Amino acid sequence: MTEVRIHALGHLGDGIARHNGEEVFVPFALPGETVSGQLEGNRIEQPKIITPVSDRIKPACRHFKSCGGCTTQHARDEVLAAWKLDQVKTTLSQAGLETEFRPLITSPPHSRRRAVFSGRRSKSGTIVGFHQRGSNDLIDLLECPLVTPKIWAAIEGLRPLVLIGASRKAEVRLTVTEADNGIDVDVSEAKDLTPQQQSELGLIATRHGFSRITWNGEVSVQAEPPYQTFGRAQVVPPPGAFLQATRDGEQALLSAVKEAVGNADRIADLFAGCGTFTLPLAEQADILAVEGDQSMVGALLQGWRAASGLHRVEGVARDLFRRPLLPAEFKGIDAVVIDPPRSGAVAQVTELAKSPVSRIAFVSCNPATFARDAHILVDAGFVLDWVQVVDQFRWSAHAELAAQFTRG
Ligand SMILES: C[S@@+](CC[C@H](N)C(=O)[O-])C[C@H]1O[C@@H](n2cnc3c(N)ncnc32)[C@H](O)[C@@H]1O
Repeated sequence: MTEVRIHALGHLGDGIARHNGEEVFVPFALPGETVSGQLEGNRIEQPKIITPVSDRIKPACRHFKSCGGCTTQHARDEVLAAWKLDQVKTTLSQAGLETEFRPLITSPPHSRRRAVFSGRRSKSGTIVGFHQRGSNDLIDLLECPLVTPKIWAAIEGLRPLVLIGASRKAEVRLTVTEADNGIDVDVSEAKDLTPQQQSELGLIATRHGFSRITWNGEVSVQAEPPYQTFGRAQVVPPPGAFLQATRDGEQALLSAVKEAVGNADRIADLFAGCGTFTLPLAEQADILAVEGDQSMVGALLQGWRAASGLHRVEGVARDLFRRPLLPAEFKGIDAVVIDPPRSGAVAQVTELAKSPVSRIAFVSCNPATFARDAHILVDAGFVLDWVQVVDQFRWSAHAELAAQFTRG
């Protein structure tokens, strides 16, 4: 047995200690705690907490220790908020970026509006849940304090879908999204449907209030198009399309974006998705919305056309990695919103830096690529005015942010 004292939380949420001059990582351990356990390599996987600190709390979920979904339910919210903010500050400062950091905003428990469960058949029925930490085994969930009550209530309706689509060896993937008018279920990696199973899906949808069931990419049942409300518009996202993880997080990002674009009259929204920012911003400005996925652009435009009182929106499907908007294309644009995927947007930001644009709202789900891209803007004369860290993935190590850049 090895005994160590934890002095910090690492970027994945493990406690960090020093032992014989080397760093040792200890899951579920907090700074100030002494823990003991079997040291394997540089990890103590199953620590015994000898001196717990007052920052330690009872995890919100009975599955916490085994479930791969959450890593940090054992600490108070204030500790986790300080840790996440510090992670982002450190990443930015290592890239030479200093700025004002606003207090972190965390989404509450029971607010995740999309979850990706796995399901397979078992001896006695079905297992629906998340994988165990570091394993392919599935946990049959008895509770999940992350997801919305409506998503949790949908679990029972997923079981008959698993019976149809999975075997005891082969799992199905179940992406469940809470729409404003019901639950949208996307089943993938499933066995093909027989005509009889196809009609059973209709009954399952009615019984469990599913507005749409998509099976291996094909819409199988659509009682009602499942829509999301963005500002005054209602949008029906394509199955599995990107959505911000929580409504609270989306609102926090949107208000930061609105502040950053100020009273611009013409805005370019790059990596626009289904219109999370485009459609609320279209209440104040004309928008050029650019997004790589043609079906998402189609959904955004359909929502815009059906809404009333919005400014003009032009939707363009374009691969912004390979064909970024060029400086001349920003002519007449007062402000840019950019919200790329995790890999960031180095090609687009490089062109943006050369453009006449002087106001940018940057939303990022990866502080490391954000720091790299922000540097390009700062080198081109932009000032990073502030950063708002938004934690939509509570109890995980993931952090998102919105930031304002301006130049004179
Ligand atoms: C983080 S999401 C943001 C979406 C939207 N702003 C929102 O808040 O819902 C990133 C978006 O970038 C799109 N995307 C990914 N790669 C792309 C590319 N090479 N060119 C254009 N868009 C891309 C994805 O389809 C996705 O909608």
